[in-house]
Amino acid sequence: MIDFLSHNREAWDKQAADGNRWTLPVDAARIARARAGDWTVDLTPRKPVPREWFGDLKGARVLGLASGGGQQGPILAAAGAEVTVFDASPAQLSRDLAVSEREGLGIRTELGDMADLSRFADASFDLVFHPCSNCFVPSIRPVWKEAARVLRPGGRLLAGFCLPALFLVDEDLDEKGEIVVRYKIPYSDAEQLAPDLLKKKLDQKVPLSFGHPLSDQLGGQLDAGLLLAGYYEDSWEPGVSAISDRIPCFAATMALKPR
Ligand SMILES: C[S@@+](CC[C@H](N)C(=O)[O-])C[C@H]1O[C@@H](n2cnc3c(N)ncnc32)[C@H](O)[C@@H]1O
Repeated sequence: MIDFLSHNREAWDKQAADGNRWTLPVDAARIARARAGDWTVDLTPRKPVPREWFGDLKGARVLGLASGGGQQGPILAAAGAEVTVFDASPAQLSRDLAVSEREGLGIRTELGDMADLSRFADASFDLVFHPCSNCFVPSIRPVWKEAARVLRPGGRLLAGFCLPALFLVDEDLDEKGEIVVRYKIPYSDAEQLAPDLLKKKLDQKVPLSFGHPLSDQLGGQLDAGLLLAGYYEDSWEPGVSAISDRIPCFAATMALKPR
């Protein structure tokens, strides 16, 4: 039995050590601009989240859910929010703490599994910001339920996630420009990768991924009691992935918790 949480924690610590793009903290100039009201943050690879999705951030209690890396949390804090960054990787959280200390942002960090937010009381946040990361957990319905529980009535969940098409194809060939449909949705590296490829990911501490169906991505948010109020799609930069060049492979949603 693979312990996905422990494996992906170590794998993301390694991603941070290796300088993966999702682990690079924002610089002082970006924080200064955010303090002056000039900021954007991403839930997906390339398109910034529409500013109107945030509502009024001044003094808002924001939970960055699986959002470590010293990126969105510090920008939202510089824009006036009271930010808690929650992540499974100590190295990722250390990025947020480093920016917070450098810039005096007062960010709080919490280490844990996105599916278990039991340390937070009901209704303790005005906004949950959850960038693409639920591809690293086997089951996402508990994540939506917990996010909905910790939101106050009237609060918002902004989420990015991978669309199922990304997980259908052979990843190595896809990166070389060739589309070969090899897998099915729901997808799990642990269950569908060839044994040698899985062993390589385990040995080399590469994060293990899961491809969730839209019935869990969108239906799961609705079943958690949230109302979908915004949606857009996004892609990798051209040439990175053959499938992403042909169909958007990422989506972002804005969901409201009814009053
Ligand atoms: C692609 S990064 C996203 C964060 C990044 N700041 C961004 O710009 O999108 C995915 C994050 O999910 C975190 N993660 C993976 N599994 C997790 C889990 N079970 N619970 C909480 N965080 C997890 C990783 O440590 C990593 O920081």
